[in-house]
Amino acid sequence: MANHVNECNREKWILSTFPEWGTWLNEEIEAEEVPEGNFSMWWLGCTGIWLKSHEGTNIVCDLWNGTGKRTHGNGKMKDGHQMQRMSGVQNLQPNLRAQPFVIDPYEIKNVDALIVTHIHSDHLDINTAAAVFQNAPETTKFIGPQKVVDTWVGWGIPEDRCVVVRPGDSVQVKDIEVVALEAFDRTALITANSDDEVFSGKLPQDMNEIAVNYLFKTSGGSLYHAGDSHYSNYFAKHGNDHDVDVVIGAFGENPRGITDKVTSVDMLRMAESLRANVVIPVHYDIWTNFQADPKEITEIWKMKKDRLKYQFKPYIWQVGGKFTYPLNKDDMEFNYYRGFEDAFAVDNDLPFDSFL
Ligand SMILES: [Fe+2]
Repeated sequence: MANHVNECNREKWILSTFPEWGTWLNEEIEAEEVPEGNFSMWWLGCTGIWLKSHEGTNIVCDLWNGTGKRTHGNGKMKDGHQMQRMSGVQNLQPNLRAQPFVIDPYEIKNVDALIVTHIHSDHLDINTAAAVFQNAPETTKFIGPQKVVDTWVGWGIPEDRCVVVRPGDSVQVKDIEVVALEAFDRTALITANSDDEVFSGKLPQDMNEIAVNYLFKTSGGSLYHAGDSHYSNYFAKHGNDHDVDVVIGAFGENPRGITDKVTSVDMLRMAESLRANVVIPVHYDIWTNFQADPKEITEIWKMKKDRLKYQFKPYIWQVGGKFTYPLNKDDMEFNYYRGFEDAFAVDNDLPFDSFL
């Protein structure tokens, strides 16, 4: 830390400030011993998750280390952007990143697989790929659908480190079975490789090449990661075919003319269809223009749970927080550890005791 203004400059400020949480969360995850019969996960922002099993296997999914808009530019959206294709807008989308960086990707060492749901840049991130490639063991796999793997290979990840998955495929990462399932992300379907590509009048891309959902099966239970899937009737099929304990889905408030995030009502339908025990909204945290109040899910759940005989509970999380299943399955809400449990463990130092 500088002690004189002449020692300060922009580069020093950036290096001493970012990532905002330093290595706090890296250390916490490394030190965590997951209780037998449980799995733990940490929310890294957006749909980014760190999953750790009782056996000590670590999976990083969808960690994003980028930003959204940082300047107004010319005020116009890039031609051919998926949001422009969806709604016919021209004005710039004001999507600024609204969360701090809670993990230092370049301090990630002990990870057994990097897994990505789909091609969008708030899920498929070059710094995450680089950090895992540079620091993790050579046995660490890069798992994703075809177009995700194509991007990794283009960035320099060796092909033999990558595993392409399609719905129905299963990959064993030590003690965790990773099952790829159909994704329902219609925004991804209208994301083009080049600006001048035209989709009108053509058949859409093959979803299975660009996006998958995942079911992570651990010795403590299973986690369904819905990526950026919109609501789909097929969640009921996945619920029939698989035992889902916890589901995380991309919740958010859609701006006018846009359907990109799952609404509160459909988050509940997703959990009901999957026959999950816990539903956790994510993604609503990250973009300034898709922010939503997750308590809306809890309130609607309260209205409907008795009538519809809901077998699941919602859980409202915080970025950087840990959730352990089944230990926290009835908690409904996360709060950061507040500390100070050792109050008066040693003599305090006050002018006089009644000062307090
Ligand atoms: Fe996303």
